[in-house]
Amino acid sequence: MLTAYDFPTARLLDEAGVDILLVGDSLAMVVQGNDTTLPVTVDEMIYHATMVVRAASRALVVVDLPFPENHLGVYQTVATAAKILKRTGAQAVKLEGGAEQADVIRGLVSAGIPVMAHVGLRPQTVHVMGGYRVQRDADVLLADALAAESAGAFSIVLECIPSEVAKMATEKLRIPTIGIGAGPDCNGQVLVIHDLIGLTSGYVPGFVRQYAQVGEEIRNAVTSWNQDVKQRTFPSPSESF
Ligand code: KIV
Repeated sequence: MLTAYDFPTARLLDEAGVDILLVGDSLAMVVQGNDTTLPVTVDEMIYHATMVVRAASRALVVVDLPFPENHLGVYQTVATAAKILKRTGAQAVKLEGGAEQADVIRGLVSAGIPVMAHVGLRPQTVHVMGGYRVQRDADVLLADALAAESAGAFSIVLECIPSEVAKMATEKLRIPTIGIGAGPDCNGQVLVIHDLIGLTSGYVPGFVRQYAQVGEEIRNAVTSWNQDVKQRTFPSPSESF
C-alpha cells in the first residue's frame, strides 16, 4: 500500500502494481504543508480521493477519516464515511484506533463500509502522545489490534511499533497487517509516497527507504528551464510555430 493524493501519481502507482492506494490524512502534511495531520477536512479528503479513484483501474482505494470524524459517535461516523464513499467511489475507509473505536468500526461494517484500522502511533493523537514516538506497550497494541479485528476491520495498519510486537500481532490476527515502521514481519507494508520518491521537504523518518530523489530532479529541471528562458535559448525555432 502507498499513499496517493492526485490523479497522475495514483495512475503511476496503479500501473506499477501497488495493491492499495491510501488517500491518507498525511496529505495535510506532505501536500498542504501543515505540521500535523489535524487540519485536513472531510471535503478536502473527498477532493483528493476523487482524483485517486479516477486514476485507479485495479488498486483498492482506501480513504482516511480525518480528525475528529470517528470520535463524533457511530451515527455521525457512518454518515461521514458514507458521504466519502458515495462522493468519491472509493471502496473503504481507514480510521485511527483500536479497542476504543470498536463500536465505531462495528457500526461502519454493519452499514456495509469496509474498515481498515490503524494502531500503534496514531498521528491524529500526536498532542496526547507527546510527539511522534515509537509505541512500545505490547499488551495495549495487541488488545487494540484484536479488538479492531473482532469489530470487523478487514485489515490493520501497525505504525511505529517494535518489530517483535508487529510479528506477534501478525501471527495472532487473521486479518492482514500492514506495517509502517513496524519491521519486516507484517503481511504488507505502507509508506507515504512523497517519502519513498524523495519529494518530502524536511524530516524523513528513519524507517523510510528512499528509492528516488524526485525533489532534486524537479529543482534541477526548473533551474535549467529558468536559465534557458533568461538566456533566451528557450524556446528554440523547433519549439516555436
Ligand atoms: O495518512 C497516512 O498516510 C497514513 C499512513 C502513514 C499509514 O495513515
